[in-house]
Amino acid sequence: MQNSGSIVTPWEVKGDVNYDDLIKQFGVEPLTDDILERLRKQAGYLPTLITRKMFFSHREFGDWMESYDKGIRAALYTGRGPSGNTHLGHLIPWIFTKYLQDVFGAELYFQMTDDEKFLFNQELTKEDVKKYTKENLLDIIAVGFDPKKTHIFTNLTFTKTMYGIATDVAKHVTFSTAKATFGFSESSNIGMVFFPAMQAAPCFLPQRLDGKDTHVLIPCAIDQEPYWRIARDVAPKLGYRKPAGIYSKFIPGLGAGGKMSASLPETAIFLSDTKKEATKKVKNAFTGGQPTVNEQKEKGGNPDICVIYSYLFSMFDEDDASVTETYRACKSGERMCGECKEKLAERVVKFLADHQKRREEAKTKVDEYLLKD
Ligand code: TRP
Repeated sequence: MQNSGSIVTPWEVKGDVNYDDLIKQFGVEPLTDDILERLRKQAGYLPTLITRKMFFSHREFGDWMESYDKGIRAALYTGRGPSGNTHLGHLIPWIFTKYLQDVFGAELYFQMTDDEKFLFNQELTKEDVKKYTKENLLDIIAVGFDPKKTHIFTNLTFTKTMYGIATDVAKHVTFSTAKATFGFSESSNIGMVFFPAMQAAPCFLPQRLDGKDTHVLIPCAIDQEPYWRIARDVAPKLGYRKPAGIYSKFIPGLGAGGKMSASLPETAIFLSDTKKEATKKVKNAFTGGQPTVNEQKEKGGNPDICVIYSYLFSMFDEDDASVTETYRACKSGERMCGECKEKLAERVVKFLADHQKRREEAKTKVDEYLLKD
């Protein structure tokens, strides 16, 4: 989908995204104070991912919480396409999903689309995808989801169950709808054309597993929304509730403009980066600083375009007063970029060390999480 010069599709996010425009174009809703107040009541607090608007839009999130209040089973569904190593940007929806799981005590269904990445990327072999699936799985487990309530599966191994649901979905989706929604062409392989049914299928997985009425909520980045349009169209035809969704922005890459992308390694902090690598990437990141210290003192910096500031804001400085002060001091020319870089590098390094420790521990826990046919 095009918006003010940027492109947002499930496979491509390019340019500076205007999120207000996206809300209109995708036909989703902004998160209102009423809804957030309901969430705050349940949780006791709102995470900075919400208060700083990293999660900024939704579809029927209020209705999902209402279902929960009425005693209807409320479940969560999210996923990961294993096309490479995991970076910080991938983690944002997962961290938020864990928060929701903790707050609502919800079962979580976590799809790994090994089929998608194999079909959509001519260069990736089955072996590559298997390797990434195994690696990514550890990063997912390291987020700390409740093992008793979290069910991770891959499409190429949980196939019997997934194919059963996906064919039910696919029967109600015409080629013309798939083409209009995803931009398929004559040269798309036929696996790609079927794939949206595989990604829509887990919206109905909990119901299929035990026949119980369930309201599913999908926390994810906004680019996945086209799949949920298909799922929501099909849901009543299969006798299920339409899935609700809550959607995040993209974390910017470390360069000027664009989101963090595994295909541009120098713009991404990978969860496997060493202390040295991560520090170097932060130190080389794009800032809103002036070319010289004197100019910075005189004119001030521009936190609105600064990647370092945006990381502190969205993830690494949870203290509101401190973030406000950083913004002010930068603009007034009192704060130099080196200081912010130092602070961010320190926090990123600590975050990675903690994650890598939990990732090591995850190696013995895989079986507790995996869903099998
Ligand atoms: N298509 C997603 C990706 O490429 C993976 C995915 C599958 C997903 N199911 C999902 C993401 C549900 C969010 C929610 O990464």
